[in-house]
Amino acid sequence: MRRPLRARFEKGGSLATVKGGCQKQSPVRFPSTMKPDIPMAPAGMIARPGGALRGRVRVPSDKSISHRALILGGLARGVTTVEGLLEADDVMRTAGAMRAFGVTVERSGAGLWRVTGEGGLKAPDGPIDCGNAGTAARLILGAAAGFSIRATVTGDASLRRRPMGRVLDPLGRMGATWICRDEGRLPVSLRGGELTAITYRLPQPSAQVKSAILLAALRARGETRVIEPAPTRDHTERMLRAFGAQVRVEDSEEGRVIGVAGGQDLEGARVRAPGDPSSAAFILVAALITPGSAVTAEGVLLNPLRTGLFDTLREMGADLTIENPREEGGERVGDVTARHGPLTGVTVLPSRAPAMIDEYPVLAVAAAYAEGPTVMRGLGELRLKESDRIAAMAAVLAACGVEAQEEPEGLVVMGTGGSGPAVRGGGAVRTHGDHRIAMSALVLGLGARAPVSVDEAGMIATSFPGFVKLMAGLGADIEAA
Ligand code: S3P
Repeated sequence: MRRPLRARFEKGGSLATVKGGCQKQSPVRFPSTMKPDIPMAPAGMIARPGGALRGRVRVPSDKSISHRALILGGLARGVTTVEGLLEADDVMRTAGAMRAFGVTVERSGAGLWRVTGEGGLKAPDGPIDCGNAGTAARLILGAAAGFSIRATVTGDASLRRRPMGRVLDPLGRMGATWICRDEGRLPVSLRGGELTAITYRLPQPSAQVKSAILLAALRARGETRVIEPAPTRDHTERMLRAFGAQVRVEDSEEGRVIGVAGGQDLEGARVRAPGDPSSAAFILVAALITPGSAVTAEGVLLNPLRTGLFDTLREMGADLTIENPREEGGERVGDVTARHGPLTGVTVLPSRAPAMIDEYPVLAVAAAYAEGPTVMRGLGELRLKESDRIAAMAAVLAACGVEAQEEPEGLVVMGTGGSGPAVRGGGAVRTHGDHRIAMSALVLGLGARAPVSVDEAGMIATSFPGFVKLMAGLGADIEAA
């Protein structure tokens, strides 16, 4: 039988064949970190319906901004200081990666980090393990592509299943070469070098892919242009400017065009990471569905390319208010308060997906408590996240007595709200190792008639360290199962 075109791994972990779009390379032997994960006994959790949730909290800092601060700091010359860096597993992977590239990354206090870059990345002397962090893997591939180094990037079992071809394809067009597993899965061994600018229309809206290309563009000959079919989070563009680069953004008939000319040097900057709206989402939805609750999440990022969930919840009739809107570190932030009350099902337009792509699992929870159906479509990307989130949430809802129809690219949730009894709950949920599925299921249990348990909760720390403690502080009953 013929071997597929891309490189393949054989049992002993050695890379056997390198063909197709990949440059011929001598076989590479990968270390034990790339061998199949050894399963550890997962620790489950249970959320019990209880009293009202009340209080004011500061949610963890924004993950997207935290990754970017470390990467841009590493590419820049001089010192970058980061205030409020998210000290979660995903971001620590990026910190480790930048150290592996020869960048000095130091912690000087809680959330206070200092990155000293020399204006370039050096060849790492081992593989870079991004753990569960897709943003780290994709942005790092882009950042490394313009340097004459070889870097091998890998991740945990979940990340090794996720598609990397979406960044490798444009980086290859710019001149980078790589060897990888079938269909562009990690581990990828990238060889960077001289790049040429491209004009690239993203096949699907993706801030990760856009960002990878823009980072590579800094070292390409000519101006690279990325055309987005729909605008996605623009933290890379904003931060590139803060680090002294020029970024051209214009709206055209084809979509938003972002241009970055090559040969631009970055200078260290000060970054302040605001609260992550994707983490605030769990606390706010928990308050919306739990009778008597009123909770405020302070200092939440309100970049309009991230607040699709808040807009949708308002359309559902949620009592959601924003106080004290202000500018912090070049981003709009505010204190968001959610109070329990009735919700009504809505149809969420596919065009809203980029502004709330990570929030659909917890929106499905709000939808379960709403009166009438909530229709969510245009969500094909959700099947490619840390887990297949459409399938995972359909299963969570079914286990908790909520009717939901799974579609190839959508989910329709039949809300049980209104005058009837609240959501039944009582499900024992499989999280598939996905932090947002775990948090969504636990939140669902807080307003239900019977407790909801999850098979695993340790991975919540990839994005929201201290989730259980913070929820307990608000009055939630969540504990080890
Ligand atoms: C992210 C972009 C989104 C999002 C992810 C973080 C980023 O992914 O799901 O959690 O920081 O750029 P895609 O760009 O792949 O949709």
